[in-house]
Amino acid sequence: MILVQDQLKDQSEVRIDIEDRGYQFGDGVYEVVRVYNGQYFGMDEHLVRLERSAKEIQMSLPYPIEVLKRRLEILAEANDIEDGHVYLQITRGVAERTHQFPLQPAPLLVAYARKSPRPLSKMKKGVTAITTEDIRWLRCDIKSLNLLGNVLGKQKAMDAKCDESIFIRNEVVTEGSSTNVYIVKNGEIWTHPANNFILNGITRQVILELAKEEGITVHEETFNKNDLMHAEEVIISSTTMEVTPVISIDGKPVSNGIPGKVARTLQEKFNERIAQLQRVKN
Ligand SMILES: Cc1ncc(COP(=O)(O)O)c(C=O)c1O
Repeated sequence: MILVQDQLKDQSEVRIDIEDRGYQFGDGVYEVVRVYNGQYFGMDEHLVRLERSAKEIQMSLPYPIEVLKRRLEILAEANDIEDGHVYLQITRGVAERTHQFPLQPAPLLVAYARKSPRPLSKMKKGVTAITTEDIRWLRCDIKSLNLLGNVLGKQKAMDAKCDESIFIRNEVVTEGSSTNVYIVKNGEIWTHPANNFILNGITRQVILELAKEEGITVHEETFNKNDLMHAEEVIISSTTMEVTPVISIDGKPVSNGIPGKVARTLQEKFNERIAQLQRVKN
């Protein structure tokens, strides 16, 4: 079952108009929310970001966020999701193709749920990355449907038989093609500040909280490629990748090429957060 506006429908019943502005312009915003043990993780934070993204592109939501929250709960239940995720997008709707906004926009919301396992092996062994020029627009803080820069970055990583592209803009490390990036230096964490050059990940927000709880100093400050290549640890995070160590970049091992202590500590703490969901449920 998928959610279209506020109705659950069978996927075979749903047709998207070729004049939907999401299809023609990428004119819309989206979110991906993780489900652990049948419970949403960070739903409120994702919905706050969704509302903000919509506001930044001057698009209204088709109905109130509280109603959306309830509908998404029904969606996960209807699809029997224990471990998985929900993808939801809102476009500026169907209108004759003109670049400017339609006079009477009718935003269209579509959401679907999928079962998906946690990336346990990658989290344990670590992943490989390349560095790539950040060619994206200057509003990476908006979770927009326009993902060409990210798509091309990820493909470049795949072509190099790596897992992720780490973007560099004017010497500064911004983020990954679908992840936030952190380095560890002298046992302290550095990550790009939450401004227009990165998406302020929900996982990022949790990680920074966990690090502070653990007494690990966090610097929300820019760092460059040289810092990245000489870091004690490099970590990426996202809703789907959780907290994953990077063990090599551009073919060179990060430190000694095995996941480090800070990554392991954050992973343990992140697991505890997930386990809390289970306790709330029972
Ligand atoms: C470019 C980019 N940065 C960061 C993230 C991580 O965000 P979150 O932790 O909210 O999934 C994503 C997730 O898709 C992303 O696409």
